Amino acid sequence: MAPTTIPTIPIPIPTPAPAPIWWREAVVYQVYVPSFADSDGDGIGDLRGLTDRLDHLAGLGVDALWLTPFYPSPWADGGYDVSDYRDVDPRHGTLDDFRELVTRAHALDLKLIVDIVPNHCSDQHPWFVEALASPPGSRARDRFIFRDGQGPDGSLPPADWQSKFGGGAWTRVPDGQWYMHIFSAEQPDLNWENAEVLADFQDTLRFWLDLGVDGFRVDVAHGLRKDLAPPLRNTNGRDSAPLNSPPQGTDHPFWDRDEVHEIYRAWRKIIDTYDPPRIAVAEAGVSAARLPLYTRPDELHQAFNFFFLRCPWTADDLRQVINTSLTDAHLVGTLPTWVLSNHDVVRHRSRYGLPQGTDLTKWLATDGTAPTPDDTQGRTRARAAALLTLALPGSAYLYQGEELGLPEVADLPPHALRDPMWERTGHTLKGRDGCRVPLPWTRSGPSYGFGPSGSWLPQPDNWGDHAVQAQQGRPGSFLELYRTALTLRRRFRGDETFAWLHSHDGGLAFRKGGLECRVNLSARPLPLPTATPVLLASGPLEDGTLAPDTAVWTASAHP
Ligand code: NOJ
Ligand code: MG
Repeated sequence: MAPTTIPTIPIPIPTPAPAPIWWREAVVYQVYVPSFADSDGDGIGDLRGLTDRLDHLAGLGVDALWLTPFYPSPWADGGYDVSDYRDVDPRHGTLDDFRELVTRAHALDLKLIVDIVPNHCSDQHPWFVEALASPPGSRARDRFIFRDGQGPDGSLPPADWQSKFGGGAWTRVPDGQWYMHIFSAEQPDLNWENAEVLADFQDTLRFWLDLGVDGFRVDVAHGLRKDLAPPLRNTNGRDSAPLNSPPQGTDHPFWDRDEVHEIYRAWRKIIDTYDPPRIAVAEAGVSAARLPLYTRPDELHQAFNFFFLRCPWTADDLRQVINTSLTDAHLVGTLPTWVLSNHDVVRHRSRYGLPQGTDLTKWLATDGTAPTPDDTQGRTRARAAALLTLALPGSAYLYQGEELGLPEVADLPPHALRDPMWERTGHTLKGRDGCRVPLPWTRSGPSYGFGPSGSWLPQPDNWGDHAVQAQQGRPGSFLELYRTALTLRRRFRGDETFAWLHSHDGGLAFRKGGLECRVNLSARPLPLPTATPVLLASGPLEDGTLAPDTAVWTASAHP
């Protein structure tokens, strides 16, 4: 008998919905490791201190942590001068502490992003020590950018390039050659045309990925490649812009060169071999037109949005920045990031209390007294800005302490300052220490609960008023605003659709998925649409109006 053939009916196999990509709408909390929590009483934050406080971060509702450098470092620039890329500095702990941190973070469903500092290393890195001990033209020197000087005796620097921290970008060594450093002299720039440098950083990526990290924040991502063709070109003053501002003009000899993208294409191939997906976020101070190049589908995943950070507090400026950020990110298939503060800028609670256009470096030089920030305005705007930031499609990067509404500590005494900018500018620029003061956890006690004893930067007398303990469970506190916002935000995650809604002059109104956000940036109350239940507001809502400098979230009637 002929075998019966059973007709096969094609059964549609449901395609599983693609797993949401965790980073597209993640809230990433930046941990400035030296100032987060100190477990051993040396006054410096450490990995164990962080691990002990992970419950707090999970309870706050963030999705991921970005850790600033904790690698062995002589600390010429707060850890951004790395002397060993694959270890932990003893002042922050051990590799075992790091393993424990990864395990505990993942158990709490928190992702971990680490900083990678590829543009330069420390002058104590074995490579640089070897370079100094080796003759000009040697293989050891080729890992860096050594050149002969100009002038008959070579006593003039090879080019006019300036350091971001003040002074020239070239330092002379005893045998007469000069080496290049975009930052301090203790941070020699690496030569990214050198194959050994390329290979070594790829090993470093794999090292941390194998330890379980979920991604990297790429320091100075736009600086790695230089135009080294002889004779070196002068910048003619085109490098005086502040940290992370775009370079002036095009074809700069060391900023934002096209060749830099080859590096990220190679990195992306490595990152993509890991599952679940890992990410890389670029710190690139480039123009809006050039930023999307860093997040092309075969390069890095995200880039910090410094345009949003620097945006004046007006509806028109913000609308424009939001539009450009969304459009540019969409061009390359990603979403923008939204950032208000980090460890390099004056904390936004203080910024928003200052008149528009205040020169912040000059303001810091007056110890924050001229002008005196309007603290009520700073506080109100910072709360509204938090709801604006957390409602936009994309990921939000929060800087530790903004959830406590911390102000800048602008009056740190000169003897306490650690930022290399202070010395390199001949004591004219105070630098960035005022946003790095260790966190207050308790109302009182040594270092307000930061650790069992003191803290490496002095904390102000009223620091305990901002402490976690003082804000926890207190309705109307910054901490509770952030916690509620982060919980609500999760309900609206996954739907990236964005649309502007009608708003009155001086207001912003938009819908992101099922969430509507309205912000009043004008000086008078604006009417609120009726009949939409309020989910959260950054300040009191009276008589159906939205007060100046206030934001409100409602559930969209038309999701
Ligand atoms: C950017 C970092 O955020 C900053 O803190 C550091 O000083 C420079 N890059 C140099 O690494
Ligand atoms: Mg410690």
